[in-house]
Amino acid sequence: MEMKKFEVLPRHIGFIMDGNGRWAKNQGLKRGEGHIAGAKVFKKIGEYCADLGIECVTFYAFSTENWSRPQEEVDGLMDLFIDYLIDGDSRLEENKERQMKLKFIGEREGLPQELLELIEKAERETKDYNKITVNIALNYGGRAELVHSVKAIAEKVKNGEIAIDDINEDLISQNIYTSGQPDPDIIVRPSGEYRLSNFLTWQSAYSEFWFSDILWPDFTTDDVDAVLEDYQKRHRRFGGV
Ligand code: FPP
Repeated sequence: MEMKKFEVLPRHIGFIMDGNGRWAKNQGLKRGEGHIAGAKVFKKIGEYCADLGIECVTFYAFSTENWSRPQEEVDGLMDLFIDYLIDGDSRLEENKERQMKLKFIGEREGLPQELLELIEKAERETKDYNKITVNIALNYGGRAELVHSVKAIAEKVKNGEIAIDDINEDLISQNIYTSGQPDPDIIVRPSGEYRLSNFLTWQSAYSEFWFSDILWPDFTTDDVDAVLEDYQKRHRRFGGV
């Protein structure tokens, strides 16, 4: 496939994978089928970002608030995550070929044991891959992440490892799940909603946003190209002039 060339590439893109339920409804399918279609798109878009040479992508797969959905839907999503990770050798080959490091960001507590073990295995197996980091935000909430960070820092103060005056923005960035990664340059939210929904709360302070009515299962690599074309025109000032 002939790939488009872009002068400026974002280092990190965030994707809020929204609209699976509406997509399924429009097709006369169950919500779970929308998530299955969405998972295929997640895989395709991740691989495309790797091929473009983007350093980091984050996909919002399951929020700390999503537990309130019907049990059948939650179970279906957990099974989807398991199926993706269990897809053994073929997935491992793909990750190796693209040098794709997998990282799960979010609270581990509350996830099914089988999924936890697969997450640890996938992270272990891909930890030295160095072309792209694919963050999967699972049981993730931006506010919960900050609580986690505050607790970790408070513990260090308590143990005398650091003083209160050592607490600054860098220290907070070092104590969140994406520590060591660039902040997202652009966050993509399809499905006609215009909100962040607790996604990358700290990291998105200076992110650009890209919204569209496309439902996530209809999102294609052409849409990624459209995001990147738009990104070329954004003038990022970071509070300067
Ligand atoms: C929001 O759309 C979507 C989710 C809560 C789930 C997103 C998860 C995936 C696409 C699967 C990803 C797979 C892997 C392996 C990481 P919605 O259901 O709220 O859509 P609606 O607003 O139209 O109802």
